[in-house]
Amino acid sequence: PKTEFVAELLSKMTLDEKLGQLNLPTSGDITTGQANSSDVAKKIEEGKVGGLFNIKSVQKIREVQRIAVEKSRLKIPLIFGMDVIHGYETTFPIPLGLSCTWDMKLIERSAQIAAQEASADGINWTFSPMVDVSRDPRWGRISEGSGEDPYLGSQIAKAMVNGYQQHDLSKNNTILACVKHFALYGAPEAGRDYNTVDMSRIRMYNDYFPPYKAAVDAGVGSVMASFNEVEGVPATGNKWLMTDVLRKQWGFKGFVVTDFTGIPEMIDHGMGDLQTVSALSLNAGVEMDMVGEGFLNTLKKSLDEKKVTIEQINNAVTLILNAKYDLGLFQDPYKYCDEKRSKTEIFTASSRDEARKTAAQSLVLLKNENQLLPLKKTGTIALIGPLADAKNNMSGTWSVATNGEKCISLLAGIKEVAGKSTKVLYAKGSNLDYDETFETNATMFGKTLHRDNRPKEELIAEALNIANQADVIVAALGESAEMSGECSSRTNLEIPQAQKDLLNALLKTGKPVVLVLFDGRPLILNDENATVPSILNVWFAGSEAGYAIADVLFGDVNPSGKLTTTFPRSVGQLPIYYAHKNTGRPLLNTEGKFEKFRSNYLDERNEPLFPFGYGLSYTKFNYSNMKISSDKMNSVGKVNVSVDIANTGNYDGKETVQLYIKDVVGSVTRPVRELKGFQKIALKKGEKQTVTFEISTEDLKFYNSDLQFVAEPGQFEVFIGGNSNADNKVSFNLIN
Ligand code: IFM
Repeated sequence: PKTEFVAELLSKMTLDEKLGQLNLPTSGDITTGQANSSDVAKKIEEGKVGGLFNIKSVQKIREVQRIAVEKSRLKIPLIFGMDVIHGYETTFPIPLGLSCTWDMKLIERSAQIAAQEASADGINWTFSPMVDVSRDPRWGRISEGSGEDPYLGSQIAKAMVNGYQQHDLSKNNTILACVKHFALYGAPEAGRDYNTVDMSRIRMYNDYFPPYKAAVDAGVGSVMASFNEVEGVPATGNKWLMTDVLRKQWGFKGFVVTDFTGIPEMIDHGMGDLQTVSALSLNAGVEMDMVGEGFLNTLKKSLDEKKVTIEQINNAVTLILNAKYDLGLFQDPYKYCDEKRSKTEIFTASSRDEARKTAAQSLVLLKNENQLLPLKKTGTIALIGPLADAKNNMSGTWSVATNGEKCISLLAGIKEVAGKSTKVLYAKGSNLDYDETFETNATMFGKTLHRDNRPKEELIAEALNIANQADVIVAALGESAEMSGECSSRTNLEIPQAQKDLLNALLKTGKPVVLVLFDGRPLILNDENATVPSILNVWFAGSEAGYAIADVLFGDVNPSGKLTTTFPRSVGQLPIYYAHKNTGRPLLNTEGKFEKFRSNYLDERNEPLFPFGYGLSYTKFNYSNMKISSDKMNSVGKVNVSVDIANTGNYDGKETVQLYIKDVVGSVTRPVRELKGFQKIALKKGEKQTVTFEISTEDLKFYNSDLQFVAEPGQFEVFIGGNSNADNKVSFNLIN
């Protein structure tokens, strides 16, 4: 019936009405959603709008939907989108943090809760998951993805799509997902947002495409085109990408939407005037125009001039109407407008509790000298830093539906979790930095951090005063929420100087210092790693961040997060990632000593400060007894690799056991190792478990220079361990 229903509706539509379905304006203002009073309302009435995005609340959405289904000629309901990226009002860690849980069930569940809340508030389409692989933390949007690895990124892409869509869009608590930003948006030159991307196809297919493909395989309903160019043609107008790869090779059946003004931006890319770039985009295989209005205003002319065909327009409209049909909007345009649900299903105690537990799993313990952590729930704690009492910054970037006032600051979390026998003193200690750049430039959606205009000496003196009264200092430093995310590229990845000065002053007191580090990207931490005994990297952990961080600081939860992105030693090392290729001149020593005419730097080691997969626990895990079931495997066979893991420390804990494979000889050069499996296990203190991985030829395949996905016979080395430096090793041969 869908096909017939949509075809019949299409047959009744005028060309203008068809172009209207391809048009996606914004509501104007996320908080007020004044569509009714703006010219958007008039356009809806005239059938010139297919959907709206970032309008919040059942009441406003109902009002706008009513215009579409009561006042427009064909009464076609609108689709309502929003950037529900890591939760709705209940927010989960920023995606980079969420990925550090390495827990696909938790990740899927976070998307399911996001869908539950968003759909209870009128939303039926989210611009998530963002699956752009990134290996360059200068790029601020590294915070919105799952890090550097295509294998892990693919698992997460699938988990997120399943979480939002639950394989059933007919339910009222699932929403249409939109995988973005297709493609390669995470690899802009020099890490500058929106900048040129240029890479070989072999790298696209092996390293950057897999998570998008995984989302398509999981049945994602829509795809968002990226802003960047791919092989010299902006993705928004790139036919090879949108038609050949996405539809012909991967079998995508949903619709493609541009990013915000992606079509007119092609004018600045130098691709022609609005009419030309709009036709280019439709011809490429893009269906929906976000904000640009190039389709709405120029496709008629292009049709007259035979630059596009009516079949292309019909096809685009059909795909959008299909999505509306799948969502059940033709049956009930108000399916997601349930006032009762909006009152009872959003920011509930149970969702918040799940968010708190998930957030605690995302924190990564980078250093813990002399087991300074966990803290005792007694004595006096001095909590110091510009991020300590900053509830509106806890959710991090792209949390547009969240109410920052309801989020839990670290100060509130510590007070609650530490209980009555602990005295908690607080001082800000410094602003984000000495100049106002980060407060004034990097603000969005009400996440402003207010500046304290007292002289820096006064701020530090106040902090030292409470530090001197305390048994331990907790320094809450790092980036503010909007120092990462869109258009937040940085060339200096250190903690801002004002905060470094504060930290040094605190260290000089001789009191033990725990650095609670807020960030949306890997920072350069050489100084802090050398001087601070304990560093807990907390990203932006969501609405319950303060509780979750305190849960970990006081040992109610043992940290188990593992990095999904390499922490460099220097900006000069970027891009940096564990699955790099060897060169013909690798270093011969492992101590990082400089060697002339080998591939290294005069002034810095090659390795990062903290590798991919790294993260400490309050307990210790010991790996031993690695075994392989056979040293040979044929092309339809499998081998099992196992290892024993023992919890030899003093706490129960969780460990993510990681399996890496190296293809020793290939028809093209192969990475030094690649993640091909992981299992997160819980081990009680003193407990031991054998973990087994099954390896099949699928795990050995890669795209060769003809872009065929093949496993080549020969030797493979297998490594298992707790991070990407894992050195327990076995090997086997793949035989024909
Ligand atoms: O979904 C986002 C995208 O990631 C960046 N540009 C704006 C879109 C809609 O808000």
